[in-house]
Amino acid sequence: MTLEEKLGQLTQFTPGKKDLPALIAQGRVGSVFGTGTSDDVNALQRVAVEQSRTKIPILFGHDVIHGWRTIFPIPPAIASSWDPRMAELAARIAAREARSAGLRWTFAPMVDIARDPRWGRIAEGAGEDPFLGSAMAAAQVRGFQGSDVLACAKHYVAYGAAEGGRDYNSTDMSERMLRQVYLPPFKAAVDAGVGTLMSAFNALNGVPTTANRHTLSDILRGEWKFEGFVVSDYDAVVQLIPHGVAATAQEAAIKAISAGVDMNMVDDSYITLAEAVRSGKISQSVIDTAVRRVLRAKIRVGLFTDPYTDSSREAAAMLTKENLDAARQVAQKSIVLLKNDGPLLPLSKTARTIAVVGPLGDSQEDMLGPWSALGKKEDAVSVLEGLRAKVSPATRLLKATGEDISAAVAAANEADVTLAVLGEARGMSGEAASRVSLDLPGSQQQLLESLVATGKPVVLVVMSGRPLTIGWAAEHVPSIVWAWYLGSQSGHALADVLFGDVNPSGKLPVTFPRSVGQIPIYHAHLRTGRPPEPDDKYTSKYLDSPNEPLFPFGFGLSYTKFAYRNLTIEGMTASAEIQNVGDRAGEEIAQFYIGDPVASVARPVKELRGFEKVALGPGETKRVSFTIQRDALAFWSDSGWKVEPGTFKVWIGPSSAEGLEGSFELGQ
Ligand code: GLC
Repeated sequence: MTLEEKLGQLTQFTPGKKDLPALIAQGRVGSVFGTGTSDDVNALQRVAVEQSRTKIPILFGHDVIHGWRTIFPIPPAIASSWDPRMAELAARIAAREARSAGLRWTFAPMVDIARDPRWGRIAEGAGEDPFLGSAMAAAQVRGFQGSDVLACAKHYVAYGAAEGGRDYNSTDMSERMLRQVYLPPFKAAVDAGVGTLMSAFNALNGVPTTANRHTLSDILRGEWKFEGFVVSDYDAVVQLIPHGVAATAQEAAIKAISAGVDMNMVDDSYITLAEAVRSGKISQSVIDTAVRRVLRAKIRVGLFTDPYTDSSREAAAMLTKENLDAARQVAQKSIVLLKNDGPLLPLSKTARTIAVVGPLGDSQEDMLGPWSALGKKEDAVSVLEGLRAKVSPATRLLKATGEDISAAVAAANEADVTLAVLGEARGMSGEAASRVSLDLPGSQQQLLESLVATGKPVVLVVMSGRPLTIGWAAEHVPSIVWAWYLGSQSGHALADVLFGDVNPSGKLPVTFPRSVGQIPIYHAHLRTGRPPEPDDKYTSKYLDSPNEPLFPFGFGLSYTKFAYRNLTIEGMTASAEIQNVGDRAGEEIAQFYIGDPVASVARPVKELRGFEKVALGPGETKRVSFTIQRDALAFWSDSGWKVEPGTFKVWIGPSSAEGLEGSFELGQ
């Protein structure tokens, strides 16, 4: 291969690139992302394989985050299931559909830990916790790669810690925070065999992650022995110039590839490395190492043996009954019941009149959420459609968008129960969608208060890519269902839960603040030297708000109730009984937390170290057990990971805010 052909393998464009076929024929392109069909892929692949001198096939990629044509719930919704099998199922089906469209690489899973819901990309990950996030990361890698599509853990690293929750903003943290919170999901992805990583946009402690030797080489290659390749994020290499660490595209390219970014997404800066090699600014061996990594990945996904895609099978692979049923099942498990006074839910299928009010009540497009690949709104089942399919033919469904509040109130007055379907339009979260307010958008709060003021029963269903500050609703609305965006089968899955065919089991993967003023707020926080005391002014709290969140990490209700009893610790195993003390079957996600009250550094009050979903019939009791792994007790010290002897606390319970407490001694 010539030097230019080698650099071509390290260059990725989109289909819109000017003269793309000619560039491919010249051997200047190694990857293309953003194609739609297998015909698009095969046309470009033929140019590479039949016209270029090296005949090396192109690696086609896309953002297949939570579905290709069959759209699954957004990742925080799937994380709300606390069921890695659901994450793996969704990824496997998404990859199967994407592979039939000629794709062999997805820029997923997004595994960024996020503790600031102002950041719109919290809608793409698994929430605030590294233990839950690691389980979801590994499951998605297994799912995508199990369908022969390379996965890509992104955005490496700490992108979710953007100051102010403002996308692309700086991140700054201790090595301990990096190691204990932001790196673990990437390590889990690497341990699960992920084929690629994507470097991020943010600067980490002043060094852009796309030129960060510490994370890209010392940790990823030196410690973790990662053998795949790293792609930059979109234009992230030339963005080293505005970051202020490079003066030219060539300087940026030298820094990026030297730090460990093997492939350059879109900005075409790696072609400047030809002169850099020839003038001795960089060694040819750095280029060769990157090319080997990319070629090994192409071999791994069968491109050299089978570069083309059978287009005849593409249409039949999409939106099959199996895929849609899976999307409905995953959506059912992703729904979180936050409140249910009365209980008002489940509703009756023979109710006389139900009003469906709000901008999301009959929306199909918003059900897809952000990053919905080739998902089509016409394939999505709206809430109204889902209800219509569920209720009796005699039930009247009234619809009001809520723009005209008086019309919405009239519908509520006419109905036996009103379903207020409120929240964000799907474009209000995702990339470049940070918000300073987390209130219900527009006039939705006024609409909600008007509906409640009718005195008729109101169920609030919220759809959003992020937590919202729904404090008024939490006080005044009898039932609240958190639905995130549930994908193609939204309406059916919601109707399954709202009318009781499915008992909701989801739990929050992220803390819901009362107000933006509390952010950052998360469960695994440090104790401080002045833990909040209501009666002591001089302790760590606010004058105008409780410290506690609106809803804690791990919170979620059921149509039945569960009781936790008899926590025991025998050796290094903690266990407890859970009984379904209600009158209907349900699933409970038991959570296991560990705390280290005294150590050589201040430790979080508790950290999630296990979870198990238990299905229980009415009255049934089961015991859940959690093995206390020694590395679960470790923390990052100046000399690396460390476990210290001493007393540890454990909790087994329904959320991070409550549970049975015990303790154990760890010897030397
Ligand atoms: C975007 C995103 C990244 C995505 C890439 C390609 O800017 O940051 O998540 O995979 O570009 O679309």
